[in-house]
Amino acid sequence: MGRGSGFGKTILFNEHFVVYGIPGIVSAIDSTASAIVRQTGEGIRVKDERKGAKGYTQKKMVQQKESISRMLKAMSFDREKIALEIWLGGNLPGFSGIGASAASSVAIARAIADDFDLDLSDEKINHIAYEAEKAYAGTPSGIDNTAATYGGLIWFKKSVIGKSDIIEKLSLKKPVEIVIGNTGIVADTKAMVEGVAARREMDPIKYDRLFKQAEELVFQARDSLNDFSLRTVGELMDRNHHLLQEIEVSSEELDYLASLARKQGAYGAKLTGGGGGGCIVALTPGKALQHKVARRMQNEGFQVLKTRIGI
Ligand code: MEV
Repeated sequence: MGRGSGFGKTILFNEHFVVYGIPGIVSAIDSTASAIVRQTGEGIRVKDERKGAKGYTQKKMVQQKESISRMLKAMSFDREKIALEIWLGGNLPGFSGIGASAASSVAIARAIADDFDLDLSDEKINHIAYEAEKAYAGTPSGIDNTAATYGGLIWFKKSVIGKSDIIEKLSLKKPVEIVIGNTGIVADTKAMVEGVAARREMDPIKYDRLFKQAEELVFQARDSLNDFSLRTVGELMDRNHHLLQEIEVSSEELDYLASLARKQGAYGAKLTGGGGGGCIVALTPGKALQHKVARRMQNEGFQVLKTRIGI
């Protein structure tokens, strides 16, 4: 039997833009996916007991199957000859947008490595999870699996010329409370990524302008996080949400939740992850503000996760 786990995450700046080599900032959250693997039975069987959004598991089932096949290939196993029972659990809810797929891929890869006594470095696990992520995101940047593997607060830049990605740990003076609000809509990250690519091709001038703004913004965000200027971080999150609206990955529900959070006093709020449904992240320093924002969302029937960045 082997065990493994992977971190959930929230992208604070520049989802989608990171796919094009623009830096992004991601933070692991203190919820993880866990996996237990046993070599038994026939073929690959998955028992997914993660708590979460209704239908998440069913909707992602086909992609999950493909991701495990990709993972086994990356680990040089013959999919036809291996018999595995995989149990998935942990306290990371199956919401879209908080890295549930990447966290589960990292957890499964680590559990398989544990069961087969493979001594795999984090770098290798990250690579395997990246291959698995292709099933969920098509052409992923690698930001989700990186956060799921290493944890912490990370500056991530995908290499556009096939060399290594830039992965730098950032530090916060102290952890900061956030609220993740879930629209309840299970989104398809792959379709969202493809949508951006298609619209960019139709209007390259507009997209070049927006990409430039996203790039400038993320450097300011890095400085503000470094200085612990949380008001500025919040303002930049609002602006980042606006850019994400412009590339058409937000939705009415996401806009509604983000503005609800701001009205309750959140320093800033934006969609997080692939968009089109899924979640928003609201910056709510201090337990009182976090509680206020979360309660209001819950009163309106939304599921929330109260957690922290910079842990
Ligand atoms: C999904 O969490 C983040 C995206 O930018 C896709 C990716 O970077 O792989 C939408």
